[in-house]
Amino acid sequence: MSLLLVKMVHVTCAAISYTLFFLRGVWLIKGSPIMRQRWVKVVPHITDTLLLASAITLAIGIRQYPGTDAWLTAKVIGLVLYIGLGMVSFRFSKTLHARIAAWLGAQLVFFYIVTTALTRNPLPFLAQ
Ligand code: HEM
Repeated sequence: MSLLLVKMVHVTCAAISYTLFFLRGVWLIKGSPIMRQRWVKVVPHITDTLLLASAITLAIGIRQYPGTDAWLTAKVIGLVLYIGLGMVSFRFSKTLHARIAAWLGAQLVFFYIVTTALTRNPLPFLAQ
């Protein structure tokens, strides 16, 4: 599979991941019964697994690695935070306020990851 195709898979999975994350937050806030449907719990696992698999394939493909290249280290830390805040929002928080705060925080982290990916800079907002 060409690297360009892997990158397309990676970016598509990132877009699906964010769309579902956003919608799940909206459904949570509205108390929608959609949140109890099985696919809502299963599909994020599939897209996140593909996102990570394509990330590893891309890193090997361009010979740049987390731990060596700062922008990829930042993306991995960002991904861990994004997943962690998602778990706080959808699983662990007891109050709606805490759930919404974690949901909003995860979205900030997501946009940080995308900006880091596009600029290849771990501090994209300080870039000249
Ligand atoms: C929520 C998580 C992630 C999002 C939203 C995301 C987003 C993106 C985007 C938008 C691009 C395309 C950049 C461009 O067109 O120049 C990209 C490329 C890439 N990402 Fe991710 N990514 C995520 C996680 C990761 C992780 C954890 C790694 C760690 C290895 C990674 C490694 C890469 C690599 C190596 C590229 C290819 C860069 C290139 O070929 O120019 N990504 N990512």
